[in-house]
Amino acid sequence: MTLSSTFITFEGIDGSGKSTQARRLAETLQTEGHDVVLTREPGGSPGAEQIRKLVLEGDPDRWSAETEILLFTAARRDHLERTILPALAKGQVVICDRFADSTRMYQGLSRGDLRKVVDQLHSLMIGREPDLTILIDMDPDTGLTRALSRQGSEERFEDFGPDLQRQMRAGFLALADEFSDRFRIIDGARDMDAVAADVHATALKALS
Ligand code: ADP
Ligand code: TYD
Repeated sequence: MTLSSTFITFEGIDGSGKSTQARRLAETLQTEGHDVVLTREPGGSPGAEQIRKLVLEGDPDRWSAETEILLFTAARRDHLERTILPALAKGQVVICDRFADSTRMYQGLSRGDLRKVVDQLHSLMIGREPDLTILIDMDPDTGLTRALSRQGSEERFEDFGPDLQRQMRAGFLALADEFSDRFRIIDGARDMDAVAADVHATALKALS
């Protein structure tokens, strides 16, 4: 096993292929001898998975925008303490489907301009950024079609509508610019193998 202690996150709009690509990267790196932990947000630890149900199921309007930020941050804190930091301390590669950039976008943009609140809470309670963030970029219409094809019981943010989805895409691209040292943008509107090859090459650079 190669010990390479690297924290990689996937970001992008709903249906862009993050979960698919995170899983494929984890499998490929594992085959190559890396010790990999594949995880996701909201969730990734027993406590955070409980909070996931609070934010993604039931009536979304029962939380104010501010309470929602606290819930996502509480889930992240538990995930960081129980899963991410222990794995990195053991030299494992942590691959996480969404992280703080999703809160910057979804909670920071969708219900008013709350980006500052998100950032303040992040520096107070999380204080950790990924080593590499892979942004799977694609136009929202394609993403939405894909996402709706596998809708389950979770109240997802896909219900946002096309304008907000477009705003999210632009927001993620702006975030990639803001944190250009750790963000890499990959075109997700291609077949899975082509996207996976780019993701793999990008991750290998971060690992070396
Ligand atoms: P996300 O985690 O970003 O919401 P998923 O990985 O769950 O996206 O993908 C959403 C849906 O689109 C799934 O049904 C998945 O199988 C499919 N999908 C993922 N990547 C591609 C691709 N490159 N081309 C076509 N369909 C894809
Ligand atoms: P996820 O399971 O990744 O959904 P998808 O596969 O459709 O991308 O995430 C569930 C939803 O949670 C998604 O709509 C984005 C939202 N979310 C936030 O609003 N804030 C956050 O901090 C995170 C991590 C997710």
